[in-house]
Amino acid sequence: MRVLVTGGAGFIGSHTVASLIEAGHEPVVIDNLSNARRSVMGRLAEITGTRLELHEADVRDAAAMRAIARDGLDACIHFAALKAVGESVMSPMAYYDNNVGGAIALIETLLEAGVGAFVFSSSATVYGDPETLPLAETAPIGAATNPYGWSKIMTERIIRDAQRANPEWSVSLLRYFNPVGAHPSGLIGEDPRGTPNNLMPFVAKVAGGELPRVSVFGGDYPTEDGTGVRDYVHVVDVAEGHVAALDAHAGDPGAHTYNLGAGRGHSVLELIHAFEEASGRPIPYEVVGRRPGDVAANWADVTKAEERMGWRAGRGLAEMCADAWRWQQRSR
Ligand code: UD1
Repeated sequence: MRVLVTGGAGFIGSHTVASLIEAGHEPVVIDNLSNARRSVMGRLAEITGTRLELHEADVRDAAAMRAIARDGLDACIHFAALKAVGESVMSPMAYYDNNVGGAIALIETLLEAGVGAFVFSSSATVYGDPETLPLAETAPIGAATNPYGWSKIMTERIIRDAQRANPEWSVSLLRYFNPVGAHPSGLIGEDPRGTPNNLMPFVAKVAGGELPRVSVFGGDYPTEDGTGVRDYVHVVDVAEGHVAALDAHAGDPGAHTYNLGAGRGHSVLELIHAFEEASGRPIPYEVVGRRPGDVAANWADVTKAEERMGWRAGRGLAEMCADAWRWQQRSR
């Protein structure tokens, strides 16, 4: 399949481009490079043996998108979005414009061009504070605590409504838990600008000596060791989840919703210790107050993805840490 990948130079996007090529698909990459580097394309060529052109464009640029969409696309995987929770609180309009406005503009162009399958990058953040665990796709959509989260809830809704109005359309809404790690080659990975907000890239920088210590946000949660529990899932597994969604549902009209998680939770301290193990470096940490908006624990029920699209996250925490560490060492 010829697959448009928006945000294809970003963290999950670039890994998905690699997985698409490996599976015999033909990705068409667009990215506005607001949070990604052009050099990723060379790295992808090294990994896959295929050199792809990067279309530097914004999904809100209707003329540019129309020109690309006319080019015989079978499907689109839509990653392009802003994703920093704290920044979304400071700049809500930028988040709604990019994430919601961007999706609307893109969907209009794709439907007009007759692109039959759409895969959306959603988030477990749509569940809010879970009532029960593990979280199945049937769990109620919660109240988000920030504009980033609302932008995912709103965009899911918009996609469902667009699908209802275009019943021949196939859409897959993939709700990621906590994608971490990097490609095993060490050539692509997460590359946040400035100090990372998320745990794994922060821990990697502490192990690498770039930051002095990890602040553990909260030691008094009702969890086994008092620290927050999340479902960390290897980014290559997440990437393969997108290929599985296309293989299972392109040509299968309807709206298909899946959790992409490993199906088990790890605490902050467990992750720190696993990273110490993988890197052979001590990782100093200090337990501080809770971060506003954080939930105590969440992890996914992944039965549906396994049953309906034969996808399962096979890579464990040790592998996630080892790959993130290799990337941390090679990315400089
Ligand atoms: C966060 C976002 C979520 C988004 C996801 C991916 C919030 C509230 N949620 O998920 O909406 O989809 O990133 O971008 O920001 N932690 C520390 N110290 C740190 C960083 C994190 O102890 O320096 C803890 C957190 O309290 C949490 C766990 O580590 O328990 C994971 O945090 P993080 O990696 O930021 O992911 P989420 O908060 O789960």
